[in-house]
Amino acid sequence: MKSPLHVAVTGAAGQIGYSLLFRIASGSMFGTEQPVVLHLIEIEPALKALNGVVMELEDCAFPLLRGVKATSSLEEGFGGVNWALLVGSVPRKQGMERKDLLSINGKIFTEQGRALARHAAADVRILVVGNPCNTNCLIAKNNAPEIPDNRWFAMTMLDQNRAVAQLARKANVRVDEIRKMAIWGNHSSTMYPDFSNAEIQGKPVTAVISDHAWLENTFIPIVQKRGAAILEARGLSSAASAANAVVDTVRALTTPTASDNYFSVATSSDGSYGIEKGLIFSYPTKSDGATWEIIRGLPVNEFSQARILLTENELKEEKALIRDLIPH
Ligand code: NAD
Ligand code: LMR
Repeated sequence: MKSPLHVAVTGAAGQIGYSLLFRIASGSMFGTEQPVVLHLIEIEPALKALNGVVMELEDCAFPLLRGVKATSSLEEGFGGVNWALLVGSVPRKQGMERKDLLSINGKIFTEQGRALARHAAADVRILVVGNPCNTNCLIAKNNAPEIPDNRWFAMTMLDQNRAVAQLARKANVRVDEIRKMAIWGNHSSTMYPDFSNAEIQGKPVTAVISDHAWLENTFIPIVQKRGAAILEARGLSSAASAANAVVDTVRALTTPTASDNYFSVATSSDGSYGIEKGLIFSYPTKSDGATWEIIRGLPVNEFSQARILLTENELKEEKALIRDLIPH
């Protein structure tokens, strides 16, 4: 057996936490040969509820779960962690855009960035889920310059999964027959689900779905607004599907990507595709199981270019709004 991975989850007593922790502990995230120690972080008022979640974890008797810490201290919670899943933050209410949360949630990520730099393991990787996740990740990263740029991620896998499900339904195929369905840009209503490079049963989406008006005018907005649609229907934002996407993201980053596929994750832009360096931008990405890289050289037609620019501009606007949270 391998030595345990230490995994921090913030907001562990929240909705997403309640779906996520049991999947990590059961082996869905790191595989059935990899033991884990969970570091569960919550604000003080939620520690009692968190204690109930810890009791339930214990009652599952998961063989891979080698320890659970529950704490409101970032020093203790992030101490020695190999992965930090930053979920803890306030979700939006109906009628809000995710970026409306910046003034409430942004500051959480200054402190967490600094604490990760001080206390996490040397190989720590960080996935930000709390919204607006791209810009929260930018805040945390800039408050932790000691941690290399390529260890920071924000989640757009839920958007990819939503896009895959919509295409599969429209084309009447299985979800695993959809490949290369990348999300570009911000996890927001400007994201660009790029059907132009996606494939269905190995053929271009546009060759299988001849209804281009549906792709441009129905498919894209459905994916962009799916979070709001769920919020409207449930009265609460997505949780189980979000937790599932966290599992999918970490697995995608830590297992080799099939040669005929790629996946979506927001990472610190290195300037690829002309995007401003340092913005946390979702790109088509592949992994060899240990390291990851942005897929280069994909064709970007005029339609795609316009949408990529729109979502990049929104990220620049968000960056301008949080400049006080980034050390100069
Ligand atoms: P929730 O309100 O159910 O749970 C959030 C938890 O975070 C609460 O238990 C709260 O006590 C805790 N928390 C708040 N501030 C904290 C802090 N400073 N440190 C540690 N914990 C803190 O919310 P949820 O439904 O679990 O959603 C959490 C976040 O994830 C929201 O911002 C939501 O918008 C976001 N989200 C992102 C995606 C995505 O695809 N990126 C998908 C779904 C939800
Ligand atoms: C989602 O995409 O479901 C989450 O980001 C929650 C939200 O606010 O839409």
